[in-house]
Amino acid sequence: MTIEATAPTIDSIDLTDYELWRHGVPHELFTLLRKEAPVWRHPDTPGTERLGGGFWILSRHADVQAVSRNHAGFRSLEGPSLPGEQPGQEGMRIVSMDPPQHTRLRRLISAGFTPRVTAALEAQAREWAVAIVERALEQNECDFVHDVAYELPMHMIADIVGIPQSDRTWLFDRVNILLQSTDPRSYLTPEERTAIQMEMFGYANQLGAEKRRAPADDVWTTLTLAEIEQPDGSRTSLSELELDLFFMVLTFAGSETTRGAVSSGLLALLEHPDQMKRLRTDPSVINTATDEILRWSSPVTYFRRTAAQDVEVRGARIGAGERVILCYASANRDEDVFPDPFRFDVTRTPNPQVSFGGGGLHYCLGANLAKREIRVLFEELFARVADIELLSDPEYSVQGIENPITVGLKDLHVRLLPR
Ligand code: HEM
Repeated sequence: MTIEATAPTIDSIDLTDYELWRHGVPHELFTLLRKEAPVWRHPDTPGTERLGGGFWILSRHADVQAVSRNHAGFRSLEGPSLPGEQPGQEGMRIVSMDPPQHTRLRRLISAGFTPRVTAALEAQAREWAVAIVERALEQNECDFVHDVAYELPMHMIADIVGIPQSDRTWLFDRVNILLQSTDPRSYLTPEERTAIQMEMFGYANQLGAEKRRAPADDVWTTLTLAEIEQPDGSRTSLSELELDLFFMVLTFAGSETTRGAVSSGLLALLEHPDQMKRLRTDPSVINTATDEILRWSSPVTYFRRTAAQDVEVRGARIGAGERVILCYASANRDEDVFPDPFRFDVTRTPNPQVSFGGGGLHYCLGANLAKREIRVLFEELFARVADIELLSDPEYSVQGIENPITVGLKDLHVRLLPR
């Protein structure tokens, strides 16, 4: 007996169903949304109850870009994820600030992430990449997510922030546990999550005290010692909670996202041997390949905004205060922008991928750094490895629409054959 799969319909979509995300982003549903309901109000379902009710999803590239660039119409105050900020923390992280607070904080931190600064970090990134790849090669078989993709972004962001090497495993283990903590398979209670968060806050405070005692040329010294001009012209330091939350943003954003791009990038290359061959025989395509890896993997599935007033988008009326999802993963497969969007093509040009956001004030601060890390890692990997064999089907982290940055590979077991 054959069972015919029924085609999904708009009415049957419930993106809060974890099962839909078991193999990554459910692209077939977003393709349907782009075609039939590009501005779609997710209905209230039992699953949306835990997320505060229904919300809007923008799935087209043009809409994601337009809303990203309209900070007056769509604010960030309530945070970038559907569940929103924890009580008392609205507007306290860079990702949940609007001007003028956002402008002041962003100006302060952006000096640490200019193209010139990240270019100067290239040699350091390469040194780390060589050491990481060589260690993985010694093991012969490895979990590429944990042993390779996890390591480079962790060390780079830790070098930039000024986190001593001896503390990194302890600290980033906690980042990892928190990131997995809404996956039903490694679920932590809210109390357990708060306890880990408090440990990280304690660490950030202690690191700040050390930087005050012995200032260094790193981002944590800059932030700890910074005085920010207030609207009345007075100058104040960042509060302890603001610093703690900034520490969380930097350690999370700086590690998990790039790890996702590197591991999904390798999987895409393994699944498309012609593209792997193209990249390996002509390393000059590494820059277009990096953009294609970012487009293909969309390590941040979405960011949320909140409508500041009643507004109409493509004829749909979005009410003031309603939540709007900017779905980067869907915009990156938009047929109107990317010819043959489900073709993985390491030479794709132009490639206006929106993995770092659709532009505007909140555009990813670490975009230059992340691109450099991805490029350097693949260059050093392919310089040392003759062949890479996939040993088993990879497993995905399954946290659904709840968490915008964790729809990625949980593991990727491979055998690396040295040159
Ligand atoms: C492949 C890797 C990365 C991806 C896909 C990514 C993606 C994003 C996205 C989608 C946003 C929100 C944009 C918006 O709201 O318009 C963002 C913001 C941000 N990213 Fe990244 N990111 C990556 C790597 C990094 C790295 C390495 C850092 C290092 C510090 C970083 C730091 C930040 C910060 C601080 C923000 C908030 C900026 C603001 O609100 O003004 N990201 N990123």
